[in-house]
Amino acid sequence: MTLTYYGHSCFSVEIKGKKILFDPFITGNELAKNIDINTIEADYILLSHGHGDHCADAEAIAKANNAIIVAAYEIAEWYIKKGVEKCIHMNTGGKWHFDFGSVKCVSAVHSSMLPDGSYGSNPMGFVVTSDEINFYYSGDTALTLDMQLIPTFAEIDFAILPIGDCLTMGADDAVQAAKMVQTNVVVGVHYDTWGNIKIDHQKTIENFKAHGIDIKLLSIGESIEL
Ligand code: NI
Ligand code: MN
Repeated sequence: MTLTYYGHSCFSVEIKGKKILFDPFITGNELAKNIDINTIEADYILLSHGHGDHCADAEAIAKANNAIIVAAYEIAEWYIKKGVEKCIHMNTGGKWHFDFGSVKCVSAVHSSMLPDGSYGSNPMGFVVTSDEINFYYSGDTALTLDMQLIPTFAEIDFAILPIGDCLTMGADDAVQAAKMVQTNVVVGVHYDTWGNIKIDHQKTIENFKAHGIDIKLLSIGESIEL
């Protein structure tokens, strides 16, 4: 399966020919200025929570692609009011079956508010399972013991975890998160975008490596096979 990184916490995967985009925040991200959102294709857009650095470009990309937004109940309602025709309402603990596989919404310890101040539901993470691959995207979260539940839901091939600290967990806690979800492959997100989440790449790679974990720090626009 190919994963493409678009900066901050935005990435897309393609499973069974369906393009699934997560947390699009591109036009407001100075580091992602070479990415043109008009070139991004999506069948589904999954939003972990309502913060602007996770959903700023969701409306434009959804409308351009006639994509389905998958998000917590109140976030889905907010996008319907904005004219996004197809939304799937979910909430923490719930699972839904799609044509590419299934998505289970899991708890995240964070906050959530939509860009206009509307209530942004509980923040969530996602466990995506399919015939090809299973993975866990935690969304913005602290390290939480709830992550011990993830391997009981599915055998995870890799996890996508925030590592920037300050606004989410940092690298040390993400190492513990990887252990809890029982994976040794991690794609790092939510780092370097602003001064308060800048990381030392080499130190971070060594930190994970010392625990037997392969941390992938992708360049913006880079695709990898997982
Ligand atoms: Ni957030
Ligand atoms: Mn964030």
